Amino acid sequence: MAAMGRPFIHINFAAEETGVEESPQGFSGNVSCHDDWRRVHLLRERYDAIAVGGRTWNLDRPRLSVRAERLGREPRRQPVRVIFAGSQPCLVPPTGTAAFVVGNCRDPGRGATALSMRGHDLRAPLQSLYALGVGSLFVEGGPTLLRSFFSQGFADAVTIFVRAGTAEAAIREARGRLGPLPGAFSARLFGEGFLLEAGSAETGMAAAAS
Ligand SMILES: NC(=O)c1ccc[n+]([C@@H]2O[C@H](COP(=O)([O-])OP(=O)(O)OC[C@H]3O[C@@H](n4cnc5c(N)ncnc54)[C@H](OP(=O)(O)O)[C@@H]3O)[C@@H](O)[C@H]2O)c1
Repeated sequence: MAAMGRPFIHINFAAEETGVEESPQGFSGNVSCHDDWRRVHLLRERYDAIAVGGRTWNLDRPRLSVRAERLGREPRRQPVRVIFAGSQPCLVPPTGTAAFVVGNCRDPGRGATALSMRGHDLRAPLQSLYALGVGSLFVEGGPTLLRSFFSQGFADAVTIFVRAGTAEAAIREARGRLGPLPGAFSARLFGEGFLLEAGSAETGMAAAAS
């Protein structure tokens, strides 16, 4: 990854077998189970930065932090926050960890640095983030931003937890939410549902660090 001048990118999402109903989902929390929250916070701790889309930021106000109550111990470090805002206005409160707002926003507030992006082209902002020290990025949604990462080929590892009764239902739900998933992926029983996985965070992170 290092040679390409962009961070290692891990896409994460949580979904629920819904049938026909199409209500908006809350930021992972309403969908993930205890085991999945712990998995997500362990991952957050290992990545340099966590990213969400502008709509998720404005609707849910996620903290984008690693929390002791999810880990069962004090976090070793906190990731930098990244908001892919696009044309959405985004205000970011200072929390003690750095934040970057990617898009048209000129004044994201004292808590953040603005990075420009042409349309939804992720290449330049990913290169900028990399140059600013973000070697690995954990992208947590929502679906619009994730589809964009997939369609532009920026997904080195993917994990999707689906609260579903069968692996088939989990895969169907993930595809319904996010469109075609990149590459080959596996499905295994996990917590109160199934975990779909593609790529390897372990190998990729090691490569990014070398
Ligand atoms: N289940 C989960 O794991 C999970 C996780 C996170 C969020 N969510 C839920 O997802 C919902 C929000 O998702 P969403 O799909 O509506 O919004 P989103 O993906 O959070 O944000 C979409 C916005 O991001 C901006 N953006 C910036 N860079 C982009 C790029 N390269 N490609 C595409 N868009 C880019 C776009 O703004 P412009 O088009 O204006 O430029 C777009 O409107 C919320 O209900 C939230 O609770 C669920």
